[in-house]
Amino acid sequence: MELKREEIFRYNPQEFCRPYDEVIAAAPDKEPERQYYFMQYARTLLKADFEEQMAKGAAAARYGEEKAKEMLSQGIYGTFKINTFGCQMNAKDSEKLTAILEVIGYQEAEGEKADFVLYNTCTVRENANLKVYGRLGQVGTLKKKDPHMLIALCGCMMQEPEVVKKLKTSYGFVDLIFGTHNIFQLAELMVRRFHQRKMVVEVWEGTDQIVENLPADRKYPFKSGVNIMFGCNNFCSYCIVPYVRGRERSRKPEEILNEIRNLAADGVVEVMLLGQNVNSYGKTLDEPITFAQLLRQVEQIPGIERIRFMTSHPKDLSDELIQVMKESKKVCPHLHLPLQSGSSRILKAMNRKYTKEQYLELAFKIKKEVPDISLTTDIIVGFPGETEEDFLETMDVVEKVKFDSAFTFIYSKRTGTPAAAMENQVPEEVVKDRFDRLLAKVQEVGSSVSGREIHTCQQVLVEEVNHQDPALVTGRLGNNTVVHFPGDASLIGKIVDVEMDEFKGFYYMGHKID
Ligand code: SAH
Ligand code: SF4
Ligand code: F3S
Repeated sequence: MELKREEIFRYNPQEFCRPYDEVIAAAPDKEPERQYYFMQYARTLLKADFEEQMAKGAAAARYGEEKAKEMLSQGIYGTFKINTFGCQMNAKDSEKLTAILEVIGYQEAEGEKADFVLYNTCTVRENANLKVYGRLGQVGTLKKKDPHMLIALCGCMMQEPEVVKKLKTSYGFVDLIFGTHNIFQLAELMVRRFHQRKMVVEVWEGTDQIVENLPADRKYPFKSGVNIMFGCNNFCSYCIVPYVRGRERSRKPEEILNEIRNLAADGVVEVMLLGQNVNSYGKTLDEPITFAQLLRQVEQIPGIERIRFMTSHPKDLSDELIQVMKESKKVCPHLHLPLQSGSSRILKAMNRKYTKEQYLELAFKIKKEVPDISLTTDIIVGFPGETEEDFLETMDVVEKVKFDSAFTFIYSKRTGTPAAAMENQVPEEVVKDRFDRLLAKVQEVGSSVSGREIHTCQQVLVEEVNHQDPALVTGRLGNNTVVHFPGDASLIGKIVDVEMDEFKGFYYMGHKID
């Protein structure tokens, strides 16, 4: 259906009476300039819409008279809510999306209800997927009452064509769908949605592009995730991530270091370097550099006190990295080293490229070189063909390595992965039983090794005022353990010395030492 010119440009005919084609034609080709153009344009459209809503009394009805006036005077033209599922990558993407929405003129809503609701989805296991449909049903009911609402979906689930097909047929109220490769286009896609007045779907199959220098926002003023690479080339046979996040791409070290320098200047003391497999960082760059070399450079940045990273694939973990962890005062003594299975046979079927023995050797080497290190892991139970013997191998590794903690997952069949086509899927009751036994084992070994900092003084980064008791603050040790101790909001973002007085299973109670 062709919309009339006046209908498309209901905002301010003088200023915006330009056909959509012209708007696009006037946009710069180069990124990120192109996105700044669209952010500005979206902001103008949103402002005009808000003014119209004010004139009609609709804004006062929605936000309250006073609040609506206050919003307008502050250059805020609506509220947003981002619901993030999945891993740190998605959390980081949501921060980027937040920054774009804020430039456009949206403010984060206090409650669940908002003018712009975005779901940043995960599809690593089926239950992550199901949660989204559940929430979408609820928000659809809200939209029926308030058609002014905009509903958007992005993230890993959108990279699956069957998902998009289902959304198009059964969730027609969705306004905007985009994928993992083009999150930077949010403003451009919103402009398209404003003009076309129907569902906009833009999902790319892949990309080799990394768009730098977009606006940034942080959940915490004192710590931040920093992408060092995107995508994954490992194709573990159960995993959907390489299909939905695309091929591995490393950011240039200068870009990463610049970002971290700016963060430090802005008060950030802790960075978490993010990638699906940070140990293969830099291999495909024009001027290759190793992850350990990158860490050494990040360490030089004044103001950065703590460096964390996620995730390390055991097959690529180098001696050079262990050396950096050993020597560095800033790289935290915490390593997340996903095991997945303790059976060499299953590891082979998983395409993990290491054996049980190699994993054990690596874990012991790290523990020897960095004695106070906290080792954590991910384990999958019920991979196709897993026998009781295979499972006992996993239990054996847990027992031998004595992980501080482990994320345990029930194998979830992901369409399109090699493991989904494997015939010998393990029956549900067997998996459930193994899962329960594994969990008990993980807790048992966790509690046997945790609490080792008792009665020592530790450096703690204070993160927040305690939710239960406002006389306490909550912070983290370098190895990621939580401690609560008396203090106030003025300590947030500071690194202070704290004596560990009492261990409560998985956190400490302590007191600050002056
Ligand atoms: N890149 C990281 C992991 C990303 S996904 C790594 O290689 O370690 C996070 C975790 O989800 C994985 O470590 C794995 O334990 C789990 N996982 C991935 N696919 C899964 C599946 N199909 N079923 C169950 N768990 C899965
Ligand atoms: Fe998935 Fe394996 Fe890549 Fe991790 S390394 S994201 S588990 S394919
Ligand atoms: Fe999920 Fe995507 Fe992360 S599938 S685990 S959000 S990379």
